[in-house]
Amino acid sequence: MNPWDERYGKDEYYYGTEPNDFLRDQAAMIPAGADVLCLGEGEGRNAVFLAAAGHRVVALDQSAVGLAKAARLAAARGVALETRVADLAQYRVDADRYGAIVSIWCHLPSALRSRVHPQIVAALAPGGVLIYEAYVPAQIAHGTGGPRDPDLLPTLAELRRDFAALDILHGVECERVVHEGAGHHGMSAVVQLLARKPDRADVESNAV
Ligand SMILES: C[S@@+](CC[C@H](N)C(=O)[O-])C[C@H]1O[C@@H](n2cnc3c(N)ncnc32)[C@H](O)[C@@H]1O
Repeated sequence: MNPWDERYGKDEYYYGTEPNDFLRDQAAMIPAGADVLCLGEGEGRNAVFLAAAGHRVVALDQSAVGLAKAARLAAARGVALETRVADLAQYRVDADRYGAIVSIWCHLPSALRSRVHPQIVAALAPGGVLIYEAYVPAQIAHGTGGPRDPDLLPTLAELRRDFAALDILHGVECERVVHEGAGHHGMSAVVQLLARKPDRADVESNAV
């Protein structure tokens, strides 16, 4: 069995049912009524929060068990949510499509990140935003959650390079306390990124 299906195979929501703090803080940056894609969305807490804020949200994850719980959470909160079971190693994100892409603790191997990150840039519509939080390699010493394999842990330098085509509005590596269900608990080393794809008008005016 997929280890994520196993982890999500209990009634309890492993990361809780409340949204991630960084997403909650940055959600107002998403254009109103946007199409939003949440990558590696698991049991759906972030997607359901954004759907309740009036966005049309797709929750993508490789775990069918996690996404079934996401659908249940959406139904319990009375919001619409599209779920898509897919492995990002095979999936191709539609270009020029989303007002926001959300990646919260979606830890992919570095080789896969280098394929998915350019797809994120292409998939954002002009003016669309990327909201991204992940653990960094220093998190391994904290032991308060997240992967133990450093190859799954990006750095701010990597994200600045991969998302150089976007305007970086907030990009920091920092330590913060994370409490999310049974999965994340305590002082943590993270990278946070808020970035916006330039509007076509900005690109054209910079070109003259
Ligand atoms: C730490 S959980 C985070 C879940 C959710 N974003 C949250 O904050 O509650 C990481 C999620 O990434 C998903 N994931 C990992 N690799 C993936 C891949 N290659 N394709 C799709 N989903 C993936 C896992 O199934 C898991 O649900």
